[in-house]
Amino acid sequence: MWGLLASPGFEAVTARHEAGLAGFAYGAPLSAGSRWWDGLEPAESADFTSESGRRTFAVIDLAVRPARRGQGLGRRLMDELLAGRREERATLATAPDEHEIQSMYRRWGWRHVGRTPGRPGET
Ligand SMILES: CC(C)(COP(=O)(O)OP(=O)(O)OC[C@H]1O[C@@H](n2cnc3c(N)ncnc32)[C@H](O)[C@@H]1OP(=O)(O)O)[C@@H](O)C(=O)NCCC(=O)NCCS
Repeated sequence: MWGLLASPGFEAVTARHEAGLAGFAYGAPLSAGSRWWDGLEPAESADFTSESGRRTFAVIDLAVRPARRGQGLGRRLMDELLAGRREERATLATAPDEHEIQSMYRRWGWRHVGRTPGRPGET
């Protein structure tokens, strides 16, 4: 996260409830030469995976405090984060077994592209 803060185009959105943090979402554009798509299965063309630093916004994390979930905050945080971005597309990753979260993102209009290698527990 700390390295990301210095990335060009980094953006974070927060939600507050009374004095506390209720949720957040943040991300940054993929840099030119990013390894985000390395090992993608099924493989996509170089046209798809090539990054310029201005092409793809990567949503790195979205979270809402358990007591505040189910009230639309997660969706609002995501919408706010992406609204006004100038990149042509956005990407995010989940762990492969997070089926409910994957369904949620599909309902929100995200499309499954494939899997990239990682250790257990990684997205
Ligand atoms: C994923 C997360 C951010 C969603 O936050 P939220 O504020 O509950 O989101 P919303 O209220 O906007 O609801 C999101 C969707 O989940 C559904 N949902 C909410 N609470 C639910 C519950 N208790 N059971 C089942 N579905 C539920 C909603 O119906 C909604 O679906 P829809 O948009 O198609 O109607 C939150 O659950 C969270 O922080 N999870 C842990 C962190 C995490 O997994 N982040 C994603 C990393 S990739």
